[in-house]
Amino acid sequence: AEISAAKALVKKMTLEEKAGQMTQITLALIAKGGWGNEDGALDPAALKKIVTEHHIGSILNTTAHALPVDTWVKLITQIQDEAQNTRLKIPVIYGLDAIHGQTYTLDATLFPHNIAIAATRDPEYARQAAKVTANELRASGVRWNFAPVLDIGRQPLWSRFAETYGEDVHMVTQFGVAAIKGYEEDGLKNTTAVASCMKHYLGYAASRTGKDRTPIYLPEIELRELHLPQFRAAVKAGSASIMINSSEINGIPVHADKYLLTDVLRKELGFQGVVVTDWEDIIRLHTIHHVAPTPLDAVVMSINAGVDMSMVPSDLSFYSLLIEAVNKKLIPISRVDDAVLRILLMKYKLGLFDNPYPEKEAIQNFGKPAYQVLALEAAREAITLLKNDQVLPLSKEAKVLVAGPSAQSLAALNGAWSYTWQGNDDRWYPKDSKTILQAIKEKIGADKVVTTTGPGFTNALNDDAESLKKAAAGVDAIVLCIGENAYAESPGNIRDLALPDNQKLLVETAILTGKPVILVLTEGRPLFITDYAPSVKGIVMTYWSGKKTAEALADILWGDHNPSGRLPFSYPKSMGEIVMYDRKGTEEKREILNENVSWDGYDPLFPFGHGLSYTGFAYKNLKVSNKTLQAGQKITITVDITNTGNRDGKHAVELYSRDLYASITPSMRRLRAFTKIFLKAGETKTVSFTITPADLAFVNATLKTVTEPGDFELYIGDQKTTITYQ
Ligand code: IFM
Repeated sequence: AEISAAKALVKKMTLEEKAGQMTQITLALIAKGGWGNEDGALDPAALKKIVTEHHIGSILNTTAHALPVDTWVKLITQIQDEAQNTRLKIPVIYGLDAIHGQTYTLDATLFPHNIAIAATRDPEYARQAAKVTANELRASGVRWNFAPVLDIGRQPLWSRFAETYGEDVHMVTQFGVAAIKGYEEDGLKNTTAVASCMKHYLGYAASRTGKDRTPIYLPEIELRELHLPQFRAAVKAGSASIMINSSEINGIPVHADKYLLTDVLRKELGFQGVVVTDWEDIIRLHTIHHVAPTPLDAVVMSINAGVDMSMVPSDLSFYSLLIEAVNKKLIPISRVDDAVLRILLMKYKLGLFDNPYPEKEAIQNFGKPAYQVLALEAAREAITLLKNDQVLPLSKEAKVLVAGPSAQSLAALNGAWSYTWQGNDDRWYPKDSKTILQAIKEKIGADKVVTTTGPGFTNALNDDAESLKKAAAGVDAIVLCIGENAYAESPGNIRDLALPDNQKLLVETAILTGKPVILVLTEGRPLFITDYAPSVKGIVMTYWSGKKTAEALADILWGDHNPSGRLPFSYPKSMGEIVMYDRKGTEEKREILNENVSWDGYDPLFPFGHGLSYTGFAYKNLKVSNKTLQAGQKITITVDITNTGNRDGKHAVELYSRDLYASITPSMRRLRAFTKIFLKAGETKTVSFTITPADLAFVNATLKTVTEPGDFELYIGDQKTTITYQ
């Protein structure tokens, strides 16, 4: 029914109406005062011009910061009222970047960023957080979310590393699909669902220098091994839309790449949904990439390559150029009809034609107490204990110094896309959000906590250090909170992964006091701490774990929660040692024969999957149901895991494979499956995984995904077995 309604509507539309549907503009164009508008008030004349006169079908973004729910409700109602006055009454679809919670609504629940969600090793958190986000978006009248990010995090310099699910493609796929389920599984018409937008297709995270939106050189074999599988799975999971990588691969801007946008995405992956550009990316084919001699050429290139909607926020140039291109027969009208049909279909599926207004039921669901509980649980499961030299958990009787630039910052705990685009303005955080200092005071009593005078990221070197030295006298331990302030996209470009000098000085000063130092890393990517790791007693990685980071951290530091987070990336020692866990043989650390010299290889400060607990886990009895595997068959691998300590705890169990010999150099390890279990103190559980030949596959030199006959080693914990694929 929806498809025939959409088809019938396309037939009634003028070229102008079609061009409007393919155009997405920013709120700034219709907000009173434009960019910087603070209160969400609209300019009725601008609204009329955009929606009625230019038939614009989609709007995104905010102008300054998050708005209260009722402001959103008012704003969306005004927009949809205007759309109801147009000839065909086509509702507007509003899109936002609710990356780790509803970024742009005040008091919305912010969850851990993807990198931290991956550290939970439990995709259920991705699904549930996405569901809450969908609820809170829908309460704001917004039905399109530009998430999840499916880019793979193998370049820690990249400013959006924290938005990835880490360095492993299997994990990215599992978590990405879970998030899509959370956004969409109730059916898009339901008031608890929104259309997801998997992004950024394709290869966006692999920029050569790490700088955002800069050139990517990617052989197709790697593109198919590491960047495409997650999109293939997401298409299968039904994601409603996709956003394109702003950058270029091997010299071809992805927005103009017909091979990737049509041959691979539409034909090979079978994607039926909407393809939207990233910010102003069509015109950039002309102004920045220099592959389109004129703006008109840019529009022709991208629409013919397969783009359906242009996020062309700040003017109506795309709209006019599209009309011109069709009139000049540079773009076939069939391509436009195809794009408009997909856009209308998404609107029909979202129920916008039935009721485009914010729904009461969704509004009632906003900010439920249960969401806070989920945010706390997710943060607790994400935070990763990297080192514990018998210092943690701390005694509640101990006196501590809580210092460092992130000790009194909310932004440093939440990171990008948090109530503002950059996330770095504490003023917009909910009143009940807690800094680390506040959460620790609440945990052990303010009388046992001292702090320093220099809480910021940009303080003068010596002030902070001097104040730390003085404050450390008389305490039993120092909790030193370092890392990064929030940033998003290009403003997060950095030159290297070194800690800033003022933070280095702080860490050195803290170590020199002789007190036990616990380093708390509030960062979106790994910053080098190699020189300090041996001298501090404890290291805890919080990532950017959202609204409840501070409380979850305090629970872990004082033992009220047993940590179970695991690194979703390899924590490197230095710039020259950024190697992924699925290294090749030549990247393996090894002794050079008879010379007792070690060969530099995969030797991170903390490996992928590292994460400590306050209890111990032992593995025994790895068994396979069959030592040989054949096409069309599967085998079951079981292992017994015992909690050997005296505390209950959760534990992530990971199955890795190694193809011993293959037609192209095999990885030394590939993660093939994982699960998370809970074990009471002393308890043993048997965990089982099922493996099919597809789970042992790789992309070969002819770009086919194959499983080659031969021997494979399988590893779970310290257990290992070998099977043969025949
Ligand atoms: O969705 C985002 C994208 O990830 C980066 N550029 C801007 C878009 C819209 O805000």
